[in-house]
Amino acid sequence: MNFNPTDKIFLIGMMGSGKSYWGKKLSEIIHLDFIDLDEVLVNEEGRDINKIFQESGEQYFRDQETKILNRFILEKKGFIMATGGGVPCFNNNISNMNNHGITIWLNESPEVIFRRLLPEKVHRPLIKELNNEELHDFILLKLAERKAYYRKAKYIIKSTDIADTFNNNLISL
Ligand code: S3P
Repeated sequence: MNFNPTDKIFLIGMMGSGKSYWGKKLSEIIHLDFIDLDEVLVNEEGRDINKIFQESGEQYFRDQETKILNRFILEKKGFIMATGGGVPCFNNNISNMNNHGITIWLNESPEVIFRRLLPEKVHRPLIKELNNEELHDFILLKLAERKAYYRKAKYIIKSTDIADTFNNNLISL
């Protein structure tokens, strides 16, 4: 994969697929600013994601994500962004990202996602109340629902290739 200094790169995929982790690494490799969309949202709101869901509801959260996404698309050149897992599935965001930048789906396996999310459940309103079995089912169900959107990514990196792709300089500017 070759990128330009003005590219807007969007990492998409399920919670726990490594978007923030690999986004930071990639930003060092290709020297583009790293942006964590939900972190920007949380800072601007002055409350965490659980609170936003609780006090203002999911629709409000989705609309704020979209607003911030659109602001970056319009106002900033050259960045790599870790999007929240739901971003491509709401408000036509996937088309917008595809029209203005380069989307990459980190297609991590449900098993790895499950293992990563177990200790981090509490920070994520959609899964924090679920027991292990319910979390497992949730991942499979959401992945099945969201695949239609994630599949529209320009690049799809399979679970087994993610580390190789990012570690072995298969990416350059
Ligand atoms: C969500 C994913 C989270 C966060 C929110 C909802 C989702 O982001 O936006 O908890 O709907 O999949 P991460 O994918 O960064 O965990």
